[in-house]
Amino acid sequence: MKILNFGSLNIDYVYSLNHFVQKGETITSDKLNVFAGGKGLNQSIALSRAGGNVYHAGAIGADGVFLEEVLNEAGVDTRFLMKCEDVRTGNAIIQKDRGGDNCIILYGGANQAITKEMADEVLSAFGEGDWLFLQNEISEIPYIVEKAHERGMRIVLNPSPMNEKILRINLNYIDCFILNEVEAHALVQEDVDKAALLNQLKERFPHAEIVLTLGEKGSVYAGAEGIAEQKAYQVATVDTTAAGDTFTGYYMAGRLQGESVKEALDMASRASAIAVSKKGAAPSIPKRDEVLHFPAE
Ligand code: RIB
Repeated sequence: MKILNFGSLNIDYVYSLNHFVQKGETITSDKLNVFAGGKGLNQSIALSRAGGNVYHAGAIGADGVFLEEVLNEAGVDTRFLMKCEDVRTGNAIIQKDRGGDNCIILYGGANQAITKEMADEVLSAFGEGDWLFLQNEISEIPYIVEKAHERGMRIVLNPSPMNEKILRINLNYIDCFILNEVEAHALVQEDVDKAALLNQLKERFPHAEIVLTLGEKGSVYAGAEGIAEQKAYQVATVDTTAAGDTFTGYYMAGRLQGESVKEALDMASRASAIAVSKKGAAPSIPKRDEVLHFPAE
């Protein structure tokens, strides 16, 4: 069984601020940090640090070579990473406030230059029983889902960031959804409470496993193993960027290595708490050992 993550790679420009900029306002940031990021890259690193063997497919421009190095250092196989000559690497302008919350502007760049031909070439190396991870920051996702399904791959979708492109995917081909409340509401297209939301997701996607993340309220699983709830570990928030990606990578790496839903949810919850307590996207994703020893008694 092989794991392929076909996803974004971004250069994250993180501006520390007292508050997010308002309409018509000009503010000054006294701190700019540049980190490796992108939901795809972050999830590959989390999968790998949690013990998974991951192939990352995606695209960068000439300015993003360091992102390949970051993936390699984390043990991710980058043989399917494409280098575009005439497109810049995707980037994210991230405002981080004093509470550690963020808001993000994305520029797709090379992430949006993925073509059907590139997808065919990558997918030809994978088949029956292999797992595909997708988020919503690259082009041609509906096509990638169709082709991966034809090849007998199992598909995990983190529909983030949520937008109308997600509804163009054949969602009946998704084996596992990992999503937050906003994304879940957009998928069921109804404004209901948490319990009803999970029921509606199960009704709409009866074949799929669902993990709904609820921020400080933890997470809940619904699927073949019934229902499982997981608390969130409380930490002082430094930077929430990539906490969700860390959760996704750790949860799925655990499941694919034979952990029960409860064990995998607990590891994912610990790992994302650690990520929240550190700066940056990729640099905040903990190694498995650190997660095993958290929280320190
Ligand atoms: O999920 C966090 C990521 O979202 C950041 O690293 C940024 O690049 C955006 O893609």
